[in-house]
Amino acid sequence: MCGIVGYIGEKQAAAVIYECLGYLDYRGYDSAGIATVENEKLHLKKDAGRLHDIEKKMSISKLPGTMGMGHTRWATHGVPNMVNAHPHTDSKNEFCLVHNGVIENFRKLKEEVESAGITPVSDTDSELIVHVIQNEYSKCKNAEEAVRRTIAKLQGSFALVIMHISERKLFLARNGSPLVIGFGNGEMFCASDVPALLHHTKRFTYLEENDFAVLTKEGIRIENKGKQVERKPVEIKWTAEMARKEGYKHFTLKEINEQPEALRETCEQDLGGVVAFAKKFRRIHIVACGTSYHAGLTFKYLVQKHAKIPCEVTVASEYSYAEIVDKDELILAISQSGETADTLSAVRRAKGKGMKILALTNVVGSSLNREADMAFYTHAGPEISVVATKTFTSQVAALAMLAFGLSGEKKMEEEVRKAPEFVKKILEKQGEMEKLAEKLMGKEDFFFIGRALAYPTAMEGALKLKEITYLHAEAYPAGELKHGPLSLLEKGVPIIAVAPSGETASKMIGNIGECKARSATILALSDDDEVLAEADIPIKMPPVPEPLVPIVYVVPLQLLAYHLAVLMKLDPDKPRNLAKSVTVE
Ligand code: F6R
Repeated sequence: MCGIVGYIGEKQAAAVIYECLGYLDYRGYDSAGIATVENEKLHLKKDAGRLHDIEKKMSISKLPGTMGMGHTRWATHGVPNMVNAHPHTDSKNEFCLVHNGVIENFRKLKEEVESAGITPVSDTDSELIVHVIQNEYSKCKNAEEAVRRTIAKLQGSFALVIMHISERKLFLARNGSPLVIGFGNGEMFCASDVPALLHHTKRFTYLEENDFAVLTKEGIRIENKGKQVERKPVEIKWTAEMARKEGYKHFTLKEINEQPEALRETCEQDLGGVVAFAKKFRRIHIVACGTSYHAGLTFKYLVQKHAKIPCEVTVASEYSYAEIVDKDELILAISQSGETADTLSAVRRAKGKGMKILALTNVVGSSLNREADMAFYTHAGPEISVVATKTFTSQVAALAMLAFGLSGEKKMEEEVRKAPEFVKKILEKQGEMEKLAEKLMGKEDFFFIGRALAYPTAMEGALKLKEITYLHAEAYPAGELKHGPLSLLEKGVPIIAVAPSGETASKMIGNIGECKARSATILALSDDDEVLAEADIPIKMPPVPEPLVPIVYVVPLQLLAYHLAVLMKLDPDKPRNLAKSVTVE
């Protein structure tokens, strides 16, 4: 997804913006640009490619002026090239704008712009906005009013930063795409995400849906639907160091290794208030996407088995087709970023029907937290790599604590608190997983199987592998193989069996046997000697308490995906076609 940074203060804006944009690298982009204003003159440089290449070619960080904006673009309308890159300006070079999101009524705007005699130079929906602003300005001669009138015409999702050459102000608007405000001393920032600004400030506030704001170097004025609103900044505990690689080759590997700490922080929280809130409901309906959805599935097993509370888990983008309106049902929305459009949309729909919302996110102050009636957190710190690792295990831990809070099993809660120690131990398997990755080089199809809690673990393992190696990986409930997927098995196809000891082990042995009979190669993760004896490649795991199975068993799978990606000379931090924060539906 695109990245935005805006600055207004005393420093040279382009240098600040260039540095901050570097921290949004993880969002993925294909072009970038910066614009500044000095002495009522606009300076703008942009191009396709990586930031540092653009810098080498045209020194974008040296543009003059103490107010400006920057953008990293992830192409949606129009190919990645210089013209389509942001910022965009009007034909008189008076207004300038960066945009994150998708404008749905761009055809109508294009007609309006063209009938005013303006021919857009790019293929983007974003450029149209700046021409509409200029058109409005020619009528009202007031920059703020022109921006306001234009925003009222926009349909779709947007985070916008706009400036005019004769004003020391940045105009901001948000609808569907996040925009965070950073408070400095005599300087103000805005960005699409907190990590961009952490080395400048720890004080943040988020713009909310339909906010329109004016940023000056002294502060911010926010309006929502015509009414002025106050939003106090919140202090964020994350440090700038957390958003750096600190000697690791990739953020993915750093974040896999940060799991013991992330789990410790997450398990330390007291969920008393959240449990009391959730207890009022007869059923729980989880909405989430991707990895967060998998974490939700682990909760379903635990809460149904231990607290006897019925639980449904729906992929957020499918929620509206499956919704039921039942005031006895609590919507539990899980999202690392708290900004995923599909999850937010499901939540807003449920809220609109009068349902109560509990949110689990990793980002204090995110949109999802603000939509929710009650929120709790994973304390995993910023996750920079596009793929979720430490936030998955932290989500599972937070959810397990909630499940045992609801079942009233204090002893089980204590078991969850042991997660950091188990994960620390399992991280010693890094060398083993690297060697395993070497053995698996050249394989093109992978099947992950598991039962009960090991099934969402298998799903998460398969997702990691496909995300960062681009290899075909699928996960099945092990019992489902014989109902179709067995036909896909051939000699040497890797089957990764997540098979801890306990109630599922003997059935897993049977399922492994089915695969062996088709000459597949079995990799089994288990603490059960009988299971391990069945495997071509046994991966010995320590015995773990049942609720820790997803947390502990996913770690070798994360490492396997990571090492395979590195061996394949792929960048695991920035998988192709994927973005960290998916802010479009
Ligand atoms: C997987 C991954 C994605 C996210 C999904 C939801 O590694 O990162 O599948 O889990 O886009 O994101 P959040 O949790 O931010 O709502």
